[in-house]
Amino acid sequence: MTLRNSSSAGSDAAGADGLPVQHLVLADETAMVRLGSVLAAALRGGEYLALRGPLGAGKTTLARALLRAAGFLGPVRSPTFTLVEPYALGSFQLLHLDLYRLGDAEELEMLGVRERFGDAVVLIEWPERGEGWLPRPDIELALDFAAEGRSLRVCAARGGAHVAAAIAAAAPTFSRENRS
Ligand SMILES: Nc1ncnc2c1ncn2[C@@H]1O[C@H](COP(=O)(O)OP(=O)(O)OP(=O)(O)O)[C@@H](O)[C@H]1O
Ligand SMILES: [Mg+2]
Repeated sequence: MTLRNSSSAGSDAAGADGLPVQHLVLADETAMVRLGSVLAAALRGGEYLALRGPLGAGKTTLARALLRAAGFLGPVRSPTFTLVEPYALGSFQLLHLDLYRLGDAEELEMLGVRERFGDAVVLIEWPERGEGWLPRPDIELALDFAAEGRSLRVCAARGGAHVAAAIAAAAPTFSRENRS
């Protein structure tokens, strides 16, 4: 992962709660896996992470990397059809959702996810499909296709500031050039 523009240190003026928005480049899957480790180390439990980006942008790849780094050894399936996959990790519970095929709010209710916000780490792919029914994310990670790999926009609210700070601190070590 490299900062797109070192002169601007990869950040805009202000996002949610006045926190800076970061713009990064994840040059390849290795960078995505490293980002997963950073997230795993930074999460305290109870954060809601919204994972945005088009089909194939790398949302599930990132979720899988996070789970692996958190020590989960079993299979990590995309929740495309089940909508939610729960994981019990050492230090917290994690719910991985993919709302691409969500029908309506009632379906979301039936998943029993709403009452888990603030308790489990909740990771949601396609959060826009649940817009209006979901709380504001603590941190939003927006992936997109880029000339080299994927672009990543990080936008944190106060509850995700520690995660955004960990990403910012680790960003330079993710560049291809800095890899040993
Ligand atoms: N930084 C990267 N650079 C290039 N390719 C990447 C990068 N990160 C992930 N990939 C590749 O992109 C693909 C992403 O697939 P993935 O299933 O993770 O996407 P997704 O965003 O979850 O899609 P969907 O919306 O269908 O759930 C995988 O083939 C993965 O190897
Ligand atoms: Mg996916």
